[in-house]
Amino acid sequence: MLYPLIRKGIFSLEPENAHDLAIKALHLANNPFLNQLIHIVFACPQGCEKTVMGIKFKNPIGLAAGADKNGDAIDGFGAMGFGFVEVGTVTPLPQDGNEKPRQFRIIEAEGIINRNGFNNYGIDYLIENVKKAKFDGVIGINIGKNKVTPVEHGKDDYIFCLNKAYNYADYITINISSPNTPGLRQLQYGDALDDLLKSIKERQAYLANVYNKYVPITVKIAPDQTEEELVQIADTLRRHKMDGVIATNTTISRDTVVGMENSEQIGGLSGKPLQNKSTEIIRRLYQELKGEIPIIGSGGIDGVPNAKEKIAAGAELLQVYSGLIYHGPTLVRTLVEAIK
Ligand SMILES: Cc1cc2nc3c(=O)[nH]c(=O)nc-3n(C[C@H](O)[C@H](O)[C@H](O)COP(=O)(O)O)c2cc1C
Repeated sequence: MLYPLIRKGIFSLEPENAHDLAIKALHLANNPFLNQLIHIVFACPQGCEKTVMGIKFKNPIGLAAGADKNGDAIDGFGAMGFGFVEVGTVTPLPQDGNEKPRQFRIIEAEGIINRNGFNNYGIDYLIENVKKAKFDGVIGINIGKNKVTPVEHGKDDYIFCLNKAYNYADYITINISSPNTPGLRQLQYGDALDDLLKSIKERQAYLANVYNKYVPITVKIAPDQTEEELVQIADTLRRHKMDGVIATNTTISRDTVVGMENSEQIGGLSGKPLQNKSTEIIRRLYQELKGEIPIIGSGGIDGVPNAKEKIAAGAELLQVYSGLIYHGPTLVRTLVEAIK
């Protein structure tokens, strides 16, 4: 009820400034007293546990990657009631990302376009934050490659981050679907995907031995593939026995926002205009994977109807980001209550 008012204030700020302010505010929730207070305000129902990829989630609603790139506000997001928080995308070295402004609201469609380009403080900074976090839910670490690393050597960056993240993550996501790092999406196809996943699985087996624990690895895919490419991706994921797949990242399509303010901005489109497209990808992916690999659904979840659609399409867990901006933190409780 209060959020439309708060949203007015937030939307009077430039999107990235609003985001940075929110992260700073949520960082305060590292204080146990404030954390408890937020827990009480946003109290989520209990008894919604779900085991996926061998991990017990206290509820199936997660924060999507990109909202907390550096893990500065894990406890704050956790206090909102999320069952899991995916931090990152993080790269081996810190990098600034693309020139600002690089985030744009498409208010009339409840969409966002971003071309951030993996701005982050690097994996070492993120790991320190994960170590400090008191959040009692699941933490996923989403990893990517630095812009300066040629795509042909992208694998080295993923392995570097995997080595660093393995002992601290509950699961790790290989992000090969951001449209804002030149050439990154090439890693989703053919021999490049095959080669990357082979190395990742070999390294996972090695690290499982070193640390004496198995940390599941998911792959995050785009919503923009052709039917043929999607079938090929599903086949490759299955062949390499990946532990999960996140569908989907943002879209480069503008079909659903034609003529709207900011719709011509370059970058990945998220939020409501992505909703149906990502649900369709989940549906097709599920038909191909037949439940062999769990699907984490992401893309325009803004309320109970779409969350249920994505589950009906085959998603076992859900992630939100843009919906949180347009509908506020109580969206988490609404979703958890409806889905339990
Ligand atoms: C500003 C912004 C930054 C994002 N950054 C990342 C990122 O670093 N890594 C990633 O895997 N996804 C990133 N995403 C994509 C989201 O994780 C999510 O998959 C996508 O936005 C669809 O969900 P939504 O419609 O609920 O936002 C970003 C999205 C937004 C809006």
